[in-house]
Amino acid sequence: MKSQTEASARGDSRRGWLHKLGIGGLLAGVTGMGYAFVRALVPNVLYEAPQRFKAGTPDQFPEGATFLEDQRVFIVREQRTFHAISAACTHLGCTVKMVSLNQPKKVAIGGREVEETREFHCPCHGSKYYGDGTNFAGPAPKPLACYRVELAPEDGQLMVNLDEPVSRGFRLTV
Ligand code: FES
Repeated sequence: MKSQTEASARGDSRRGWLHKLGIGGLLAGVTGMGYAFVRALVPNVLYEAPQRFKAGTPDQFPEGATFLEDQRVFIVREQRTFHAISAACTHLGCTVKMVSLNQPKKVAIGGREVEETREFHCPCHGSKYYGDGTNFAGPAPKPLACYRVELAPEDGQLMVNLDEPVSRGFRLTV
């Protein structure tokens, strides 16, 4: 008699446990569906930093290359001309460092002889670029990107457009 009562109690306990498990599973399912529903209402938008930015007025830039860390861009001033070179290595995207040469070096770029005063070196795998961004050593498959620079009409600041690559010969004269 006692063992029958115990068996019945064990059966009740097992049914109760299965009942709770069922409710737990149902709640998990409803929660998952609710999350999927709410997530479907949120658009899949990638929020990125603005691709056009103001860098400052021309007189704020000294002669030579100035590194803008946030945008990973060098603004290069050569007297009254300006251009922008990306600091993102074309191998795997590390940030290149500018190296000022102790003495100007004559190099041939695209069939022309050019006197270089700086180079860009990548610390990750040793790629090297001439001052105009042309790759000449290491695994980098192509030159550093150059971007359009223009003067903002409202306040005369240099405006760089990272969405608009330009040829390495591009110069803004101010
Ligand atoms: S990321 Fe620059 S050489 Fe590899």
